[in-house]
Amino acid sequence: MRFLLTADPGFEDVTLAELAERGLPGAPRPFGYAGLVVAEAPGPEPLFSLRSVHHLVQDLGRARLSGPGLEDALSALAPFAIPGLGPETSFAVRVHRRGRHAFQSPELERAYGAVLVARYRAPVNLTQPDLLVRVDLFEEALFLGIQLTRRPLSIRYPKVYAPPAALKASVAYGMLRRLGVSRETRLLDAFAGSGTLAIEAVQGFSLRRVVALDRNPRAVAGGRENARQAGVSEQIRFLQGDARKLRQLFPPARFDAVVANPPYGKRLGRSENLYRMYLEFFQEAKTVLKPGGVLGVLVLKRGWIDRIARQVGGWVLLERRVIELGGLYPGYFVFRSKG
Ligand SMILES: C[S@@+](CC[C@H](N)C(=O)[O-])C[C@H]1O[C@@H](n2cnc3c(N)ncnc32)[C@H](O)[C@@H]1O
Repeated sequence: MRFLLTADPGFEDVTLAELAERGLPGAPRPFGYAGLVVAEAPGPEPLFSLRSVHHLVQDLGRARLSGPGLEDALSALAPFAIPGLGPETSFAVRVHRRGRHAFQSPELERAYGAVLVARYRAPVNLTQPDLLVRVDLFEEALFLGIQLTRRPLSIRYPKVYAPPAALKASVAYGMLRRLGVSRETRLLDAFAGSGTLAIEAVQGFSLRRVVALDRNPRAVAGGRENARQAGVSEQIRFLQGDARKLRQLFPPARFDAVVANPPYGKRLGRSENLYRMYLEFFQEAKTVLKPGGVLGVLVLKRGWIDRIARQVGGWVLLERRVIELGGLYPGYFVFRSKG
């Protein structure tokens, strides 16, 4: 069977690596669309444990629209059967659309829903359907499937404290995986916010010693509560403190890995302040990392990071990638400290 997986644009390779661990083949970016991975599997079961994925969609077919109109979409959908749909099975149609079309998503949901009611005599249930029929449109590319997940797999625990800048757990997974953490890693999350990275480190990689630092006491209390909800309080020490003064907080070479999702700078005022903050953080991170330790940083100001790494010195760039997060394109950089 073929499945379409929705992932985070820029981290599709992480999903492929997770599939490979399960012995399953996959291909990224069908039709060139970021954030999608196609997987082949005998059934959906092994896919539910993927940590880099939001939704699982059983692939029923693909087509290209011959024009931007509603009729074009309906004729592209017409040849495909929906297995399992019938008078005893309720359904809903959900459309996810990117690009320019001459109709809105709800119009296609209603029109295609009416087609399926007429064809299968199946009842519509918009709140708790037995089958969730999913249509993805990317400009003229169309994917039809049955969505097997109701909640995104990336929602793993109730987030009591969820500031707007909080990462998705799937992005945190990708960052930590590329950083190369494992059970024995001593990890510092230097701008912990709601604790997503620290919590994912424990849940996804079984780390036992994580420090989650944030300057804001509300974030420290909120992150701690999130960790409690996630059942990982014992492995994470939440600490209030300044990531520009790490050597005052920790002994030298305390950590094997430091991960950072510092503020993007939207509310920090003048950009020299932000540049200085990143620079000081890089200097301090060096002191608390072991020689050979790794640093992963996610920032919007991608051009600054090479410059800062050169200015501080003693870093080897292991990888850099651009990801997409809510319409922004931050860069994720992984460095090794030469010591
Ligand atoms: C982008 S948010 C981190 C979001 C986090 N990864 C999450 O998933 O919730 C940046 C965090 O850095 C904190 N912060 C800003 N300046 C700091 C500093 N100098 N030292 C430590 N934390 C700082 C902010 O309070 C905020 O919680």
